[in-house]
Amino acid sequence: MRIVYLKNGVERKIKNFYPWIFRDEIEEIIGEEGHVSNVFSKNGDFLGKGFFSESRISIRMLTSKDEEIDEKFFFSRIKDARRKRPFSDDQSFRLIHAEGDFLPGIIADKYGSGFVVQFRTKGAELFKEKFVNALLNFSNASFIYERSDFETSSEEKLERNKGLLKGSVPDVMFVEENSLKFLVDIPNGQKTGFFFDQRKNRELVRHLPGEKALDLYTYTGGFALNLAYSGFKVIGVDKSEDDIEIAKKNAKINGLNAEFVRADSFEFLEGTSEKFDVVVADPPSLIKKKSERKKAVSILSKLTWLVKDVLKIGGIFVLCSCAYNIDTSILIESIRRGIEGEGLVWRILNVTYQDTDHPYIAQIPETLYLKCVWARLEKGW
Ligand SMILES: C[S@@+](CC[C@H](N)C(=O)[O-])C[C@H]1O[C@@H](n2cnc3c(N)ncnc32)[C@H](O)[C@@H]1O
Repeated sequence: MRIVYLKNGVERKIKNFYPWIFRDEIEEIIGEEGHVSNVFSKNGDFLGKGFFSESRISIRMLTSKDEEIDEKFFFSRIKDARRKRPFSDDQSFRLIHAEGDFLPGIIADKYGSGFVVQFRTKGAELFKEKFVNALLNFSNASFIYERSDFETSSEEKLERNKGLLKGSVPDVMFVEENSLKFLVDIPNGQKTGFFFDQRKNRELVRHLPGEKALDLYTYTGGFALNLAYSGFKVIGVDKSEDDIEIAKKNAKINGLNAEFVRADSFEFLEGTSEKFDVVVADPPSLIKKKSERKKAVSILSKLTWLVKDVLKIGGIFVLCSCAYNIDTSILIESIRRGIEGEGLVWRILNVTYQDTDHPYIAQIPETLYLKCVWARLEKGW
C-alpha cells in the first residue's frame, strides 16, 4: 500500500471535498505498491483514499473513509448518482460525470438500456473491470461500449481503448430528447456519441423569437432541429461530413425541414449573404490551459465579428464554450470585442450552463465547464 503525507495545510481543501492533490503538495510518499493511496495530513490525520498517478495531479481523492475501492464501492457511487438524476429508466443521459459524481476520471453515458464508458486517468483505467462489473450488477446493461479514445495532452500513459466490453450495440441507436429523435453512431461519433450536456440549452432555443436561424458547429443537428421544431427556417453547419449526413437523417426521421451544410464555420460566415434572427455557436473545446486564454478571446471575437454581419439588429447570439478555462467573463469579453467600433451593443439576456446530469460541485470548480451566453444585438445610443 502506498502512503502519502501531504504538506502542511493541504488537508484543508481535501476536508472541503476538493479531490485533486498536486505533486508539489506532497511531503512524503512511502511505498510504491498499488494505485490507490492512503492519504494523511502532515501531522498524521487520515484524510481518505485516492487514485495515485505519476502526473502533475498525483492524487484524485475517492473517499474520506477507510473503505476498500472494490465493486461494492463503485456500486454504491453508481446508485447514488442514479438517485440524483430525475430521469426515467427508459431515458438516455449521463449517469456518471467523473469528479461531479465523486468518481474521478470515469464517465458513463446511458444510451437506452446500454452504456458508453470512458476512463480518463490511469487510476480510472486500472479499476475499469471493477467499475464495469458494478455497472452491470446495477443495471443489467444490454451493452457496455468503451470510448476511451479521446484526445488528451495528459502525461499519464493511457491505453486509449475503444470497443465492446459487453453485449452488442444495436445497428441503429437513437437518443430521444424532448420529443425529438437523434441517431447516434456509438463507435464513431464524437466523444461518447451524443452531447447530453446541451439538452437544457437545446430546449431553451425553442422559445427564442424569430423566423430564420443558423446553428454553427451543429454536430448531428442538436440546436438546429430544436429550432426547426419551433418553426424556424434553419441552416446547420459543421465541418464533419459524417455528422452532417447524420444531421440530415435526423431531420428526416423527425419530419422537419432543415438545411445542413458541410463547411468550416468561419468560411460559411464569410461566404453567406443571408441574415438570421438567431445564431447559435457551440464550438469544440478551444483551449486546454489557462495560459491560452488570449487565444480563446482572439478566436471567439473573430467569430463574433463575422456573426454580427449575419445577425439582424434585435437578433440573438448564443455563444457556448465547453472549455473549463474559458469562463463567462471571457465569453462576454469576446463578444464585446467582436463588435467594437461598429456602433452596436450586446444586451446580455441570459447565461446558462451544462445540464444537471453533468453536476457542478461548487467545491470543485473544474466541474463547471459548459457556459452559454445569450445576447441580443442592439444599436448603441
Ligand atoms: C461541441 S460539438 C457541437 C454539439 C452540438 N451543438 C449538439 O448540440 O449536439 C462541436 C462540433 O463542432 C464541429 N467543428 C469543429 N471545428 C469546426 C469548424 N471549424 N467549423 C465547423 N464545425 C466545426 C465538430 O465537428 C463538432 O461536431
